[in-house]
Amino acid sequence: MRPARVAVLASGSGSNLQALLDAAVGEAPFRITQVVVNRADAFARVRAERAGVAATLVDHTRFAGREPFEAAIDEVLRAAGIEWVCLAGFMRVLTPGFVERWRDRMLNVHPSLLPAFTGLHTHRRVLAAGLKITGCTVHVVRPALDDGPVVVQAAVPVVDGDDEASLAARVLTMEHRAYPLALRLLTSGAAVVDGERVRLTRPVASAPSGLLWPDGAGR
Ligand code: GAR
Repeated sequence: MRPARVAVLASGSGSNLQALLDAAVGEAPFRITQVVVNRADAFARVRAERAGVAATLVDHTRFAGREPFEAAIDEVLRAAGIEWVCLAGFMRVLTPGFVERWRDRMLNVHPSLLPAFTGLHTHRRVLAAGLKITGCTVHVVRPALDDGPVVVQAAVPVVDGDDEASLAARVLTMEHRAYPLALRLLTSGAAVVDGERVRLTRPVASAPSGLLWPDGAGR
């Protein structure tokens, strides 16, 4: 089967983009063929260029509103023949119209165990709440913020002495495992979006440790 053509939208460092680029080799059922950044200083752009992937800057500050900004992104995605979109630290809220155009074809990674702690400053709020466990979620994007069918989650312990930076780094390590797995499951057809659930269509032989997906088979 021809690998799926995937675009990654990013605003910052792009470490999740890097994890996807690193996974998009050999027998992987996807390739990252387009990156879109909304900030000129996003390091994600450098990562894309180093990997030989087209990187397009669509600067939100140059548009009159969200619709024209998103229309410009959509044009890049359509021109590149993109089939799947991965939001990876893309810090712009998307309109329902854009989300619907990519319905069941757009994923996001969020640094908490959704539906807990949607929005910003996740780790700060987890620490303030005194939780012992947090994690990350890769989910199919729905119009509400950080909402949608879960593909993969990973639990991450909060340890004594953690600050925002140490906790973010520990969670990020699991994001880097969870996101490639989620994209692999969906682009290979091993998992499908079935309404508001993601379900496996066949057993999955192996996955990085510590990840959980909807049938609970992850170990
Ligand atoms: C990641 O932790 C991602 O989960 C988070 O931003 C970081 C981006 O890091 N995304 C959100 O908070 C979106 N709600 P990266 O640029 O190194 O991939």
